[in-house]
Amino acid sequence: MKGIVLIGFMGAGKTTVGQKLSQKTGLQQIDFDELIVQEIGMTIQEYFDQYGEEAFRKKETEILSKSLDLEHIISTGGGIVLKEENRRLLNQMPTVVYLKTDADELVKRLKRDKTTVRPLVVSKSPEEIKEVYIPRIPFYEESANIIVETTNRTPDEIVQTILLKV
Ligand code: S3P
Repeated sequence: MKGIVLIGFMGAGKTTVGQKLSQKTGLQQIDFDELIVQEIGMTIQEYFDQYGEEAFRKKETEILSKSLDLEHIISTGGGIVLKEENRRLLNQMPTVVYLKTDADELVKRLKRDKTTVRPLVVSKSPEEIKEVYIPRIPFYEESANIIVETTNRTPDEIVQTILLKV
């Protein structure tokens, strides 16, 4: 089986679904946020504060360009589709799955998740979070070749759907 790349907004389930897909397929999972944190030696919040978002985006592009041929389950960060270069790279990868989630549901999940500090949504109102999400939707859609609805569905159901489509 070829690798599977998961894209979608923060809170869409890319990490959780990635872990379960890895267990089901036996393919190794890699998580871009984790790789970047290992490399930079600080949290993403600290990196954004010290070096800014653009520097973080460069790290994402470096990692994505090294991942093109990997037969892994790849959980990306929610902003991977922002750069045109990244969208072009994603279009070269055989299986890119967009985990699509309603904006209201994403806001609920992000407000509930107290364990992850995400600089682009921390201390933002639901309306402001939606303003980050909505303009990205066309980018997720053009970067994916499979779209899977995740609203009101469990990670196991999502994994089953993905495995039927790949
Ligand atoms: C970001 C999403 C985060 C992380 C960073 C920026 C974004 O990853 O890469 O905080 O711009 O959507 P998750 O989608 O895994 O939370």
